[in-house]
Amino acid sequence: MTAAPAARNHWTDARCAKAFWSQQEVRPYRRLLADTVALAAPAAGEAWLDLGCGGGPLTRALWDHTGGTVGAVVGVDCAAANADAYARLRAELSAGDRVRFRHHDFSSGLAPFPDSSFDHAVSGLSISYAEHLDPVSGRWTDAAYDRVLHEVYRVLRPGGRFVFSVNVPEPAWWKVGLLSLGDVFRAGRPLRFLRRSLRMMRYGGWLKREARAGRFHYLPAAAVAGKLEEAGFRRVFHRRSYAGQAFIFSAVKPSDEG
Ligand SMILES: C[S@@+](CC[C@H](N)C(=O)[O-])C[C@H]1O[C@@H](n2cnc3c(N)ncnc32)[C@H](O)[C@@H]1O
Repeated sequence: MTAAPAARNHWTDARCAKAFWSQQEVRPYRRLLADTVALAAPAAGEAWLDLGCGGGPLTRALWDHTGGTVGAVVGVDCAAANADAYARLRAELSAGDRVRFRHHDFSSGLAPFPDSSFDHAVSGLSISYAEHLDPVSGRWTDAAYDRVLHEVYRVLRPGGRFVFSVNVPEPAWWKVGLLSLGDVFRAGRPLRFLRRSLRMMRYGGWLKREARAGRFHYLPAAAVAGKLEEAGFRRVFHRRSYAGQAFIFSAVKPSDEG
């Protein structure tokens, strides 16, 4: 359960960020996206946070689901390369500053954002990567994962929802791969798609190794639910998606009205 200090984090690399942009082209991921947005149920005028936003597929889905009437979506990610994807997305949607990108590492919390600054939050397969190395024991802990949940709670207004996906323990990537095979031929640029998919599989190996070492957190649903409750969330609900390899959670920050 110990790891070398200053272990490399591929998530900040442009190559890694770009490899995951192709994820949106495969069916299991599109199913996950549709299931997440259905639970999120965004509405006109609302301000949303998209945590670990990558190239912005959830941000775009929130936009599309509301027919472009969502108030604002702020994507947060530790990979600076995703700023380019957001610049393209903003231009494509003619969204102006209603779609924004913030380069930030959520393992340290969400300090850039004041209390109650968002109506709701989403996150796609990202919060499992909150990392904290205990300087005394030299061991990975789940303190940063807990901090993210407390911080999302803080930045949501009372009554706000947090809808997010996380991978199941020991995810079987091959099940996702199997259901994605046909998409190679449907992808606009099949060679680029294949190159990115192979790279994504290599990163998948790294993610599983680090999860086994306790650095990343592919937790059982009951553990995630317990952490949400501990952070103050209520009405916690989850279901499976992504070829069975992810849980989607929905949780509410209580308001006086309940
Ligand atoms: C599997 S990708 C998912 C991206 C996007 N949400 C999607 O659904 O396609 C995980 C994302 O989490 C981001 N991420 C990982 N650790 C992070 C951290 N500590 N702070 C901010 N973003 C992080 C990665 O850069 C990456 O974009």
